[in-house]
Amino acid sequence: MPESAQPETPILVSPAAPESPVTFPPAFLWGAATSAYQIEGAVREDGRTPSIWDTFSHTPGKTAGGETGDIAVDHYHRYREDVAMMADLGLTAYRFSVSWSRVQPTGRGPAVQVGLDFYRRLVDELLQHGITPAVTLYHWDLPQELEDAGGWPERDTAYRFAEYAQIVGEALGDRVEHWITLNEPWCSAFLGYGSGVHAPGRTDPAASLRAAHHLNLAHGLATSALRSVMPTRNEVAISLNSSVVRPLSQDPADVAAARKIDDLANGVFHGPILHGAYPKSLFEATRSVTDWSFVQDGDLEVIHQPLNALGLNYYTPTLVSAADPQLSGPRADGHGASEHSPWPASDDVAFHQTPGDRTEMGWSVDPSGLHELIMRYTREAPGLPIYITENGAAYDDKPAADGTVHDPERIAYLHGHLAAVRRAITDGADVRGYFLWSLMDNFEWAYGYEKRFGAVYVDYATLERTPKSSARWYERAARTGVLPEVDAR
Ligand code: FCB
Repeated sequence: MPESAQPETPILVSPAAPESPVTFPPAFLWGAATSAYQIEGAVREDGRTPSIWDTFSHTPGKTAGGETGDIAVDHYHRYREDVAMMADLGLTAYRFSVSWSRVQPTGRGPAVQVGLDFYRRLVDELLQHGITPAVTLYHWDLPQELEDAGGWPERDTAYRFAEYAQIVGEALGDRVEHWITLNEPWCSAFLGYGSGVHAPGRTDPAASLRAAHHLNLAHGLATSALRSVMPTRNEVAISLNSSVVRPLSQDPADVAAARKIDDLANGVFHGPILHGAYPKSLFEATRSVTDWSFVQDGDLEVIHQPLNALGLNYYTPTLVSAADPQLSGPRADGHGASEHSPWPASDDVAFHQTPGDRTEMGWSVDPSGLHELIMRYTREAPGLPIYITENGAAYDDKPAADGTVHDPERIAYLHGHLAAVRRAITDGADVRGYFLWSLMDNFEWAYGYEKRFGAVYVDYATLERTPKSSARWYERAARTGVLPEVDAR
């Protein structure tokens, strides 16, 4: 990115309230996050084979405009300039994911060294720039061959994942201290196999619950596999998109609806992972769909591994009420609309638009939800450090005539949410870092390139990167540990 392309920062450091600056602990990690399929491109290079997202995005009608991650933002070839840009933006941490199909193209068997070499080079580059890497092993891109063998509803996929985790752990464990097994297993299970808006696009409620269990099992097996090959100082975590589920009213029927969705969004993962058991109420609520006989003896012990940290991804809360099953219609779940619900056995629940300003995704801006989420997990898992592994917003960013990209809404969003993180720390939560979603505009799954989440603008014609004003705002926060005021203009 040429120097001249950098916008003059329009952010004001407020002279108004110097006595109450929002200040973060010195060791707090100021990160940004991405994922392999959303940024790498180079989908047919160096032995990489298709993942379920290659297949899905190339299936007509599955993504906006038929867009794919074939080129994405070409990070595979531009990682050096991207890391230099991160350093220029003052980031102290970077969360990225490894493409399973690059490392183990058929999802089983020996590793492809040239695929691993890409991640070795990326990690070296980050470390040379003083940026702490955080590796996510799985951000939704299952090798297609494993889907052909049954995918996540199939138990064997969990064992394949543990094998892959061990390969990556052996290759990078000496240099990477922060490990995340799965990103948002809720999306993999319920959007991938329930509503079908995500790859592999199946719409089978029973399969989505089987997938959820096998993702949990995969997490447990991978945690042990990683620990068997990595130095003990390394941290193993999982990133959950735990929902903040609120009832529309205090009417007992609405409160019960919120509990049910809480089980299906949260308890289904944190139950076994943090407490070693699925909520009984989850079994009862889903009995019409499955008898859960796929949970085998010993599975819960495998899943219930002590973790070093918990990753939380937060965007917006969820508002529900009781509903008349007869009236249920098409569902929007945040990542796309489908006539199939991602929520098994939940025709008796209605989903409502949450109040407040909305982002381009239609998601309401509500930092109080992030505070609530952090405090909930501070109680759910006392003593477990928390990282906010994703938080951010899509806006309709457009370059001005001089090429700068001014995104005051994103600055306000980040300010509000980081202040909520700080409040949670004051209230006793052990939050160690924050990863903005996303470093740069990228392939937003079913939405293609239509939704821009980046702090850095990408011109998709030239792939030129230009930090938006929010990136410069975040840079100040990262360099000083204090939130700059937002520009009131
Ligand atoms: C999260 C995903 C991430 C991105 C953001 C907007 O659910 O983990 O890849 O799509 O939403």
